[in-house]
Amino acid sequence: MIREPASKLGASTGALAEPPAGTAAGSSTQPLTHPLAHPLATPGDKNVQAAQLLNALPHPLLSVAGDGTILDVNPAAELFFAMSRNALRRIKFQELLPFASPMVSAIEQVRQRRAPINEYRVDLGTPKIGVERFVDIHIAPLPNLRDGVVIMLQERTIADKMDRQLTHRGAARSLSAMGAMMAHEIKNPLSGIRGAAQLLETAVGDEDRALCRLICDETDRIVDLVERMEAFSDGGRPVERGAVNIHEVLEHVRRVAQAGFARRIRFVESYDPSLPHVLANRDQLVQVFLNLVKNAAEAIGEDACDGEIELTTAFRPGVRIKSPGKASPVSLPLEFCVRDNGAGVPEDLMPHLFDPFVTTKSSGTGLGLALVAKIIGDHGGVIECESHARKTVFRILMPVYSRRDGAA
Ligand SMILES: Nc1ncnc2c1ncn2[C@@H]1O[C@H](COP(=O)(O)OP(=O)(O)OP(=O)(O)O)[C@@H](O)[C@H]1O
Ligand SMILES: [Mg+2]
Repeated sequence: MIREPASKLGASTGALAEPPAGTAAGSSTQPLTHPLAHPLATPGDKNVQAAQLLNALPHPLLSVAGDGTILDVNPAAELFFAMSRNALRRIKFQELLPFASPMVSAIEQVRQRRAPINEYRVDLGTPKIGVERFVDIHIAPLPNLRDGVVIMLQERTIADKMDRQLTHRGAARSLSAMGAMMAHEIKNPLSGIRGAAQLLETAVGDEDRALCRLICDETDRIVDLVERMEAFSDGGRPVERGAVNIHEVLEHVRRVAQAGFARRIRFVESYDPSLPHVLANRDQLVQVFLNLVKNAAEAIGEDACDGEIELTTAFRPGVRIKSPGKASPVSLPLEFCVRDNGAGVPEDLMPHLFDPFVTTKSSGTGLGLALVAKIIGDHGGVIECESHARKTVFRILMPVYSRRDGAA
């Protein structure tokens, strides 16, 4: 993720360094055709251009006076704080912050040192804008206003996605080697044990026959587990990828789910019909969405009568991720989401959600999401999860298929 140096911000603050509303050059005489237009700017002059730049910036930007009054904001800040520019200009910046926020002392430091500072991973979450809104903060003094500062916020989700996804890849790689080794070492003796139990079954009385069945059932369960582990080791075999219609995959998964484990659950499909094909292996994508939909159904539970799973697809240009071993960032414009209204992921599980063997279910292996993360990672995509009670979303970003991929 590209970080805007704080010094650049300081240099372009002219458009935000407007006096507070109600002062001589304030809002009453200013033509409000452009929210950040400098009061003295005429079309085509430099200030207008700077204002347009700031307005186009996708990151929230605010200028704040010495007493905490918000002087001006760009549209991204209005969106972030879910308040209009006018409403924001009537309050103090502190009123937007959660209790005891480190932002307050950071702003104070900037005022005292008259130098920019950056802080990373600060939680600005409040009940109004939502919990866990982690941002990187860049604060710089406003050159023309004593004790005034300009603040830029940069939401962390994309950076976090990258961090977490790279960690998952590491976990999946070590699991891949372990999977291959386990499959080899365990499956052979297991088939011997099962065969012996079957032979015994024919030669023993009723009571012992039940024990033989137990041995067979349990060995079957272990073989099943080992086969799931084996899925992690691709054995060096290249997986064939091509143009896959994601809507066909999701439709297939929905039908399988509704015929079985998700019989009582309502499905909502919000698709972008013009979405281009994804570069992927179809069977692996089916595996991914079956795992996600199965987890969603299990989180909703069998007794719920209002269970709902939403499958969405969307085109999000502009998401680019730098992945190891690739010279330039990869574009991941395809977004696929699985949302459910179940109980939500337990908070303490979140940091380890995609690790293998992490489960809260008595009969779960905890391999479902680890496999999902590995497949998505192998495809050059990323997956992330956001969870609250009655709203859990697994979001996958994937590369689009292009003709060049077909030729490869
Ligand atoms: N949609 C969801 N809502 C709430 N919790 C979830 C959701 N998806 C996953 N989880 C949590 O993550 C854990 C790990 O999921 P994962 O699919 O890896 O394993 P599992 O479902 O427990 O076992 P298995 O996939 O082998 O049946 C689950 O046990 C559950 O606690
Ligand atoms: Mg699962």
